[in-house]
Amino acid sequence: MTRISTPFTTPFTARTTATEILAGVDLTGRRVIVTGGASGIGAQTVRALEGAGAEVTVATRRPAPGQRALDLSDLGSVRRFVAGWSGPVHAIVANAGIMALPARRTTPEGWELQLATNFLGHFALIAGLHAHLRQAGGARVVMVSSGAQLGAPFDFDDPHFERRPYDPWTAYAQSKTADVLLAVAAARRWAADGITANAHEPGYVHTNLQRHVDQATMRAWGAMDDDGSLLTPGYFKTPEQGAATSVLLAASPLLDGVTGRYFSNDNQEAEVVPGGPDATGGVAAWAVDPGAADRLWDLATAACRP
Ligand SMILES: NC(=O)c1ccc[n+]([C@@H]2O[C@H](COP(=O)([O-])OP(=O)(O)OC[C@H]3O[C@@H](n4cnc5c(N)ncnc54)[C@H](OP(=O)(O)O)[C@@H]3O)[C@@H](O)[C@H]2O)c1
Repeated sequence: MTRISTPFTTPFTARTTATEILAGVDLTGRRVIVTGGASGIGAQTVRALEGAGAEVTVATRRPAPGQRALDLSDLGSVRRFVAGWSGPVHAIVANAGIMALPARRTTPEGWELQLATNFLGHFALIAGLHAHLRQAGGARVVMVSSGAQLGAPFDFDDPHFERRPYDPWTAYAQSKTADVLLAVAAARRWAADGITANAHEPGYVHTNLQRHVDQATMRAWGAMDDDGSLLTPGYFKTPEQGAATSVLLAASPLLDGVTGRYFSNDNQEAEVVPGGPDATGGVAAWAVDPGAADRLWDLATAACRP
């Protein structure tokens, strides 16, 4: 991760929408892949990019006409997607994700399912399309992480909860730390190819992502009343606002050449802070550690060998 004394700033705020980020930007001729682009924040990301003229491929488990099949928890599915791609790709928005699965689940390869979906499948996709990113000249990789990265480092000793008790939130946090580390490693490795890679947190948005969150937690967030009806507290964003930072990093000319950084949901680069229960914002030092990033890249590379 590039360390600078002054964090990168933009004129935008937490309330800026994805469409506002791209006002006046012409993306004609740009080809963008958005994983999980059929719902929630991803759908608004697609809408804003298409509105600015980009050719967007929506990669999703259950493709509607015009969309492409991609199951990130299945490396065979990722390989088929990569094999079917031709020509340049100007940006990949690694947006798809699952959160807080109540019980430990694993892929046939033994990867914990949140880590497999949120991180490994995206790694296989992005590494598999490296030549196509290079071909674009100035391509961008966008990792949609979460403030959850503040909650846990990547545990190289037991990433799949084989020896420690499974915890839904620790598994999610680890996977979101892994997403940031992926951006850090790609930024380091692919700078000479003109490829930039950044990560961000979209902020709280009501979407299908919360399907596994219990009602007590939703109430603690102020996002549900006593009767089980959804509430939208002031710190929540609309999906269009949640998509803003993805679009900023994927396509705004303001970000030309900016790489290896983590942006908060206010569209500003985050401060690096110690992770842990006391952290209230910023990006955890463990998520931007270049040594951990390179180690995770090697681990993922080995896991993706057919
Ligand atoms: N919403 C928030 O408050 C919040 C906060 C911080 C970070 N985020 C991050 O924002 C991103 C988007 O989430 P969202 O809130 O928009 O939730 P969402 O509406 O549930 O979108 C997630 C998308 O990921 C797709 N997906 C899940 N598993 C997949 C798989 N194995 N292969 C391919 N696609 C898969 C889902 O497809 P299906 O419809 O087929 O399940 C869905 O389209 C996630 O990475 C999430 O971690 C969200």
